[in-house]
Amino acid sequence: GLLNRGASSGPAPTGASASPQCPLLIAFGSQSGNAESLAKRLAREATGRGFAARAAGLDSLQPADLVREQNVLLITSTWGEGDMPDNAMSFWDSINQNGSSPALTGVKYSVLALGDKNYGDTFCLAGKKIDARLAELGAIRVVERVDCDVEFDDLAKTWSTSVLAALESTATLSLQASSNPIITTEIVEESGYSKKNPFQAQLIANLELNATGSAKDTRHIAFSLAGSGLDYEVGDALGVYVKNCAEVVDSIISAHGFDPHCEVPLPDIGTASLRDAMISHYDIRHLHGITPGNPGSVADFVTNLRKLQPRLYSIASSLKAHPEEVHLCVGAVRYEVHGIVHKGVASTFLAERLPLGETTGIFFHVAKHFRLPTDRTKPVIMVGPGTGIAPFRAFLEEREATGSPGKNWLFFGDQRRATDFLYHDQIIEWVQKGVLSRLDTAFSRDQEEKVYVQTRMLTAAAEFWQWLEEGAHFYVCGDAKRMAKDVDAALHEIIQTAGGNSAEEATAYIADMKKNKRYQRDVY
Ligand code: 2AM
Repeated sequence: GLLNRGASSGPAPTGASASPQCPLLIAFGSQSGNAESLAKRLAREATGRGFAARAAGLDSLQPADLVREQNVLLITSTWGEGDMPDNAMSFWDSINQNGSSPALTGVKYSVLALGDKNYGDTFCLAGKKIDARLAELGAIRVVERVDCDVEFDDLAKTWSTSVLAALESTATLSLQASSNPIITTEIVEESGYSKKNPFQAQLIANLELNATGSAKDTRHIAFSLAGSGLDYEVGDALGVYVKNCAEVVDSIISAHGFDPHCEVPLPDIGTASLRDAMISHYDIRHLHGITPGNPGSVADFVTNLRKLQPRLYSIASSLKAHPEEVHLCVGAVRYEVHGIVHKGVASTFLAERLPLGETTGIFFHVAKHFRLPTDRTKPVIMVGPGTGIAPFRAFLEEREATGSPGKNWLFFGDQRRATDFLYHDQIIEWVQKGVLSRLDTAFSRDQEEKVYVQTRMLTAAAEFWQWLEEGAHFYVCGDAKRMAKDVDAALHEIIQTAGGNSAEEATAYIADMKKNKRYQRDVY
């Protein structure tokens, strides 16, 4: 569970009840929950300053709500290839229709966009699109949009301070200035461990899930939580602090002609040797295999580096099946470009560089958007090819451990059955025990033509539709670029062909599923 430290304590806002309050809608488009928690936090902050503030998901809003509430702050992430988060799609369609676009004249707004600079051109694209479109529709931007990279805390705080100040100064209804300082809250695990204060967890398993001859190297990774007091729910993700490969660091340092032992500053920490700093604290991916330009000073060199970020992995276990443990299913990323072998930093750290018995910093990332149905009788359909199996191993362990009566259907796919059927024995056992009511596998390279998970969905369209009509919750995990898009298209097709619906009706059916949290995705 979580608790908020620092929130909602202190005296009630003085101005709140005396004068009419300025309405403030804080709308969020959230995929992993970051935008949602920022929006909720900001709503509490604004309430403390005398606004009549509320946070709401974009899936629950119409353009008319913006017109009614007049002051609107939008916080949205971007997912996949510059796409809207799932809960922002229908709202985006409603403001982006040519011809029948709503007029938002006079609505005051500002956008906070969350993103990841590693995505290049599509960085913060969902926020950029919404920002531009609202202006086109006549809304007034009171503060310029702010685009945040993965470390969003500081920029988000700067943005929220300036938007509240701007809205206060333009508010037509007088707002009594609150003497309360802005309430800042940090979500902290009850155990006291968090992203900023990770638990040092011991690696207790590192098993190869692929058989010899596979083109892939997928690992079953287990950490011990003993002594941490930490818990998680299935569907959550695990944040893992990682280190760069020492050989890569050494080759970069020597290519630049630097002394590996020279002391360099580390923000918030002090100093470290250049070598240690580059192994543990800096993101060096873009330096690998690049010929250095003009030699500069070491200090300039390190201050231009980005901080090495912890990585999030979908959790592959249930605490009910494995007390005090957390498991991951990790695909080791290795590829060659112009003769230089590139390694995924986090995946090869876990697969190669963290010895069994050693520890690394971990924390839990609560993913409220990826949850089993609370009604345990509801059927569940899961599509998880490759490492996308991870959260579904956790789901199935949980459904088994809790004796959930609802039916479970798994679609799994990978290259070859003989070498790539991840968690084969456990999955077959679930079929035999009846925990899995149905299993469909798609091994793409076992025959001439490609067979993918969506191929299997379409073949099973009639039964798939029947499950949906019984209220099944549908989950997709894995590759965002192609698989999740193709699976989404297959879902549309099934609802049309097996359900006898038009394309528009299928779109509405899916929008309704999303609204009722019956279509949830964990894609990357
Ligand atoms: P392929 O590499 O043989 O084309 C897990 O990586 C599995 O996902 C592999 O079997 C891979 O097949 C498959 N895959 C590749 N593209 C896909 C897509 N667009 N939709 C679904 N699965 C896909």
